[in-house]
Amino acid sequence: MFFHAHGIRLAYDDHGMGVPVVFLHAFPLNRSMWAPQVATLSSHFRTITLDFRGHGESDAPLWSFSLNHYADDVAALLDHLAVPQAILVGLSMGGYVSLAFSRQHRHRLLALVLADTRAQADSPEGRTGRFHLAQTAYGKGAGAVADIMLPKLLGATSLQHKPDLVEYIRQTIQQTPVSGIVVDLMAMADRLDSVAQLQAITCPTLVVVGQEDFTTPHADAELMAREIPGARLAVIPAAGHVSNREQPEVFNEVLRGFVEGLQKSHEA
Ligand code: MLT
Repeated sequence: MFFHAHGIRLAYDDHGMGVPVVFLHAFPLNRSMWAPQVATLSSHFRTITLDFRGHGESDAPLWSFSLNHYADDVAALLDHLAVPQAILVGLSMGGYVSLAFSRQHRHRLLALVLADTRAQADSPEGRTGRFHLAQTAYGKGAGAVADIMLPKLLGATSLQHKPDLVEYIRQTIQQTPVSGIVVDLMAMADRLDSVAQLQAITCPTLVVVGQEDFTTPHADAELMAREIPGARLAVIPAAGHVSNREQPEVFNEVLRGFVEGLQKSHEA
């Protein structure tokens, strides 16, 4: 399905009933990365997935955007669906957008799941890496980006034992428009440091990290779990950065437990 926000056509899916949970994807993937969550969890609650601008079936305008614009797109989707408040599940870049959302639209957050992401801004080396990756995307295309990103996205266990997942990630990146990749890289390089804001997050928060995630490692997850009042940390064994795809059953159980726990405490 599609809706328009800020002059851009964005694609989304909406399945199931109950508490709304909005899933925000990683770079440079799209909403299809949440297929195992939608398949299982939409019989427990309402699952909403969005293709960020520049990804999947959404428009891919070439312009200068910040992650705040992506967060505004999420708010526009909630408006479109007449959903006043939702739980956000953001993985990696989706987590950066969730943190931006928590700054700009805090009153619309029921709860937050920050998976395989970090609160810190890019280091100078990180920004330089984004610059080089943007040049690779522009000069050589999305296939070259897939070669570079695959070992950063998947853990050793998946790279060795999950050829279908490796192929899915490769194909998804190859199909991502170069403008989408480059716009993301510029937006991520310029994102604000969110560490100082963590203590002001008041909604229930779950932090998730794959045990084999070296892109946004355990220490980054621990920092968020320590600073966000009352946050819990869950480690997914034998998973790398895209932990929801690498160990979907474990990820789903952790997420379902968190959401059902919220519902129970709300009813009590
Ligand atoms: C992602 O998975 O969204 C990216 O690895 C995030 C990043 O490059 O910082």
